[in-house]
Amino acid sequence: MNNILTAVNLNKTFDSLQVVKEVSLTIKNGEFVCLVGKSGSGKTTLLSILSGLEQPTEGTVSINGTSITDSSENELALFRRKAVGFVFQSFHLIPTLSAWENVALPLFPIKMDKEKRKKRAMELLCQMEIDHRADHRPSTLSGGEKQRVAIARALVNRPEIIFADEPTGNLDSETSGAIINILKHLHEKNGMSILMVTHDQDLATSADRIVRMQDGKVVS
Ligand SMILES: Nc1ncnc2c1ncn2[C@@H]1O[C@H](COP(=O)(O)OP(=O)(O)OP(=O)(O)O)[C@@H](O)[C@H]1O
Ligand SMILES: [Mg+2]
Repeated sequence: MNNILTAVNLNKTFDSLQVVKEVSLTIKNGEFVCLVGKSGSGKTTLLSILSGLEQPTEGTVSINGTSITDSSENELALFRRKAVGFVFQSFHLIPTLSAWENVALPLFPIKMDKEKRKKRAMELLCQMEIDHRADHRPSTLSGGEKQRVAIARALVNRPEIIFADEPTGNLDSETSGAIINILKHLHEKNGMSILMVTHDQDLATSADRIVRMQDGKVVS
């Protein structure tokens, strides 16, 4: 099986604080990996580096054979939009746009007419079983509904890997379970590669593999 992601010897220093220390990590194509560790251990920072949101101080990352640590900011932005899907704890939906417009937003730089964009967004909202809320603004949706919209948005450009940073952090346990089942389904049925940060030990057991961080290092 090929690796979707290969990271070699990553270090990240903010001022004089070393937050990520000599991290090497590979994720296989289609693998579901959970990243766990105490608050402040460097999980979000590592995820930002692996997904190309942030550059490491040292080290390299490649996704599907493309190095993302020596590309220009423009190349990187294009790559992120096409190859990577993000899901965040606090949803990061645009409040002035409807659910379907939020989902369609990453399609915007691509030349696609409005009807096609809406069709693609609706397909994903259907898949997430939230199409009946397509015209609603985020403020009128529940937490679980917002996260379904956010997952639909993450999938809209058919990414090769999904990065999720505590996607259930703002949800109750029942709703969390439903969101994890969606991610599991994407992994099992669609072969999606997923790297998910979670604090919840029970949720982490859904994954193929658990990577543990402690004080900036991957310890197991
Ligand atoms: N932009 C930044 N500038 C300076 N320090 C930072 C920056 N981003 C993160 N840090 C520091 O890096 C350390 C790791 O932060 P990070 O957010 O990666 O931890 P985390 O494991 O995701 O924690 P949590 O579980 O609370 O989300 C913390 O000490 C944090 O204060
Ligand atoms: Mg974090």
